[in-house]
Amino acid sequence: MNILILGGGGREHSLAWAVKQNPKCDRLIVAPGNAGIAQLAECAALDINDGGAVAEFALAQSIDFVIVGPEAPLAAGVSDRLRAAGILVFGPSQEAAQLEASKRFTKEICDACGAPTAAWARFTEAAPARDYVKAQGAPIVVKADGLAAGKGVIVAMTEAEALDAIDDMFGGSFGEAGAEVVIEEFMEGEEGSLFVLCDGEAVLPVGSSQDHKRIGEGDTGPNTGGMGAYSPAPVLEGAVADRALQEIVKPTVAEMSKRGMPYQGVLYVGLMVQDGAPRLVEYNARWGDPECQVLMMRLGAQALDLMQACAEARLAEAQVNWADDHAMTVVMAAEGYPSGYQKGSVIGGLDALPEDSSNMVFHAGTKEIDGKVTANGGRVLNVTARGATLQEARDRAYAMVDQIDWPEGVHRRDIGWRALSD
Ligand code: AMP
Ligand code: GLY
Repeated sequence: MNILILGGGGREHSLAWAVKQNPKCDRLIVAPGNAGIAQLAECAALDINDGGAVAEFALAQSIDFVIVGPEAPLAAGVSDRLRAAGILVFGPSQEAAQLEASKRFTKEICDACGAPTAAWARFTEAAPARDYVKAQGAPIVVKADGLAAGKGVIVAMTEAEALDAIDDMFGGSFGEAGAEVVIEEFMEGEEGSLFVLCDGEAVLPVGSSQDHKRIGEGDTGPNTGGMGAYSPAPVLEGAVADRALQEIVKPTVAEMSKRGMPYQGVLYVGLMVQDGAPRLVEYNARWGDPECQVLMMRLGAQALDLMQACAEARLAEAQVNWADDHAMTVVMAAEGYPSGYQKGSVIGGLDALPEDSSNMVFHAGTKEIDGKVTANGGRVLNVTARGATLQEARDRAYAMVDQIDWPEGVHRRDIGWRALSD
């Protein structure tokens, strides 16, 4: 099987790593890829948001299966374009990807199928939005409707913060994404994410995870794309995950099919759990980054079989072979992230690290210059390990972090603290 993966971050490195272990994989191309991915796959320069260009490339390279990593190509309809060209794709259609691309769309789906989520209202003008906030009081959550690279959500602890967020969004700070604003009830509880494959009808859970969004230890400071993650997440074990599937995921998938936009791909189910009851925070139409890295570490080669079964609508007969294991990934970022940071610093010590089914450094923003791996983004490395316990996975991951020679890099030392302090 010839496989093309779209994307070039840590998520796609972990996907490539898992797929490559499967004997079914004959040839693997990743577009655009990065310095780490280049060690195990061919990398191709390609505008991955241009469906026509991707389809043309896939046909020319005799690609049998395309796995779409990030949300932008999904929202741009790249999966539809590939399917129209007769190519097997893992990833939802543009219509179905609205579950991530539009907060209002998701809220309407939840209301239509009775999935528990925060109470909400939508606005296209600032004045009624401000009145609503004044009537509801704080804390309250203000969200730009569209894709805003994870920055379009303001959890306002005071009314003044919420009013500022409204003015910012309608003032154009988030571009088109902020032309419509969703305002939500603030939900208390512990967050976790459930990852579920959907083939339009059947659903198959493929793991839970918790990430650490804040830059600072103890979950403090500004939000980032994620500074580390682990799987499984104790908050979503057992009955809570079952409830989320029965009360939220299955009704959503059924509602999408009913509307003629069946959801096919992985559904990232962001949940808030309070007193054992899950409520939906958000859906994403893709694997999480860095959550994917821990899920791939746990699933290994079978990830390809599962994604293929999903794309071929054979999920009802698929099952996950779980090992009784845990995985953790620690993100190393360039100093200054998530604000300004420098590119180009050299990262040493990588060659001496173990690379096996329990230890792997996935590359996010890296670039090879003169034979040296250099930092080329905010989040740069995802140091990932597996163990019989979360503590073992943690110890292995930090042992690798400590061997990496990168003075310009920063990381958190407390990934997994919630689960480890239980
Ligand atoms: P989202 O992009 O919708 O996931 O929002 C980003 C983050 O904001 C979430 O991971 C939560 O930590 C927080 N958040 C979003 N919506 C709510 C809500 N209604 N109540 C509390 N926190 C929220
Ligand atoms: N780690 C959060 C995300 O992928 O959206």
